[in-house]
Amino acid sequence: APRVLSGIQPTAGSFHLGNYLGAVRQWVALQESHDAFYMVVDLHAITVPQDPVTLRRNTRVAVAQLLAAGLDPEQCTLFVQSHVPEHAQLAWVMNCVTGFGEASRMTQFKDKSAKQGQDRTTVGLFTYPVLMVADILLYQADQVPVGEDQRQHLELTRDLADRFNTRFGDTFTVPNPYIVKETAKIYDLQDPSVKMSKSASSPKGIIDLLDDPKATAKKIKSAVTDTDTVIRFDREAKPGVSNLLTILSTLTGTGIPELEKEYEGKMYGALKTDLAGVMVDFVTPFRDRTQEYLDDPATLDAILAKGAEKARAVAAETLATAYDRLGLLPAG
Ligand code: TYM
Repeated sequence: APRVLSGIQPTAGSFHLGNYLGAVRQWVALQESHDAFYMVVDLHAITVPQDPVTLRRNTRVAVAQLLAAGLDPEQCTLFVQSHVPEHAQLAWVMNCVTGFGEASRMTQFKDKSAKQGQDRTTVGLFTYPVLMVADILLYQADQVPVGEDQRQHLELTRDLADRFNTRFGDTFTVPNPYIVKETAKIYDLQDPSVKMSKSASSPKGIIDLLDDPKATAKKIKSAVTDTDTVIRFDREAKPGVSNLLTILSTLTGTGIPELEKEYEGKMYGALKTDLAGVMVDFVTPFRDRTQEYLDDPATLDAILAKGAEKARAVAAETLATAYDRLGLLPAG
């Protein structure tokens, strides 16, 4: 079966709706048909300051949410990035084939570092995309399910894989992004011109899956729409309504044209009330299941130990090949 790999940061504690619809939902579907590797990327998280106690807790919370979302450790390999030391090792190698200018052009880095200021920006944040390249290439992934904001990092991955292969001989699979158009970018509920994001969205603009479901319903009901009254999908003219339609369509499996028909002649309030109900029905059991996994840390740790072992077997083989191709002298 073709191989997929993806990762998610543990930084925020709760996943937000964009993480789920843009990425995790696809992970769950792909584990059925693909040889799937999914990880919580704690080494990426430390590119910005982290409180150690919170980081450790949030890493478990992230794993619990992935299980609650439907990842099945019998069907996929689920692990924590730092449990597989090859990530850091291959990242060093890939740093040495990445141009400084090439890394400087990464827009996520430019945005984040501009916000933080130069003195607070780490070199780790600068080479963050290169660690992501290593994450992907270690597993010889064919496809990488992510949201739109990761597209540039996937292009870098393809460029570096090609470059290494050309210079040193075929070593890495050149991966393709797996980006589902409809849900590739979920927008902020208060400012539907920008993506929903932990760092940029106001608390009212972002749906945290582990939030109190009542608070979630309230956020949906106060989502920004427009002064028109027609419920119709039009990303340009009606970004707020289109975002709500996208979310409702994805969670219910009803096509957007059908929804438009259903809401003909109805007010925005009706759409929001329905979506709020659907959201509450989704997040309530999700929250409960996450808590159940968190209440059983022994099981969770056992899942991660097994995942790390399976991941390491693959990663070690790729790293050994890469070291060999580079001409690094084998140890003994
Ligand atoms: P992260 O943790 O920021 O986000 C996890 C996933 O959620 C997607 N996403 C969104 N999708 C749609 N709409 C949104 N508003 C939205 N916000 C976030 C992201 O695109 C991502 O797929 N660098 C990655 C983590 C990573 C990784 C990897 C991914 C590290 N190594 C290797 C794939 C392969 C990141 O920070 O994702």
